[in-house]
Amino acid sequence: MSTIVVAVVGRKGGGGKTTLAANLAAALARTEAVVLVDADPSGSLVSLLPGGDRLRVVAARTEEVLERELDRARGLVVVDTPPVLVGPAALAVGRAALVVVPVCPSVVDLLSAAPLVESLRKAGKPALVVLTQVRAGTRAAATAREAVAALGLPVARAELRHRVIYSDSLAAGRTAVDLAPGGPAAAEVRSIASEVRRLLRKGTR
Ligand SMILES: Nc1ncnc2c1ncn2[C@@H]1O[C@H](COP(=O)(O)OP(=O)(O)OP(=O)(O)O)[C@@H](O)[C@H]1O
Ligand SMILES: [Mg+2]
Repeated sequence: MSTIVVAVVGRKGGGGKTTLAANLAAALARTEAVVLVDADPSGSLVSLLPGGDRLRVVAARTEEVLERELDRARGLVVVDTPPVLVGPAALAVGRAALVVVPVCPSVVDLLSAAPLVESLRKAGKPALVVLTQVRAGTRAAATAREAVAALGLPVARAELRHRVIYSDSLAAGRTAVDLAPGGPAAAEVRSIASEVRRLLRKGTR
């Protein structure tokens, strides 16, 4: 079985990478084994999330360890990265079949994401922008969607709303996907997971 790496990447600290990586991995793990690699040296994810039946959570605090984990893993691997695009994040992008970039719909976050989005497009790297922390009833997400599309990368049709369950669940060592599988957060993450699967099928299988 080959290794398929999905790297969750972004330059914006607090932009929602860890939240998206954990929930996406949990959603993908509903049907197949997934390794979630915490490549952020702060190690917050690995200390919060014990994993489960089909979800294994491992820490990779250095590039060397990340390389080893990626070599060792089989099947689907989701990598959460720190907000700098050198070291582990660059390695994860290099090994990724798909790069997922969470972007909050604000002008500051869009400006921060634009160079990354453009460099992924120029490199021909399969990528998917996911709007996150979207406030219900605002126009910001639609505006952000247009701005990202203008940069030439696909934007996931589904988006992550701003919901307390994302932080509350992680605080309890869970994800929104497994804490409340019937809830709206789990539903939106499952939709993102479907889009990720579709892109992986298109590009790698
Ligand atoms: N969709 C969401 N709804 C509500 N809160 C969210 C959402 N996504 C992220 N958050 C919260 O925003 C904060 C930052 O999120 P997160 O840790 O996922 O970002 P990050 O990009 O991994 O940050 P860092 O760059 O520091 O690693 C956290 O408190 C998290 O609970
Ligand atoms: Mg993080």
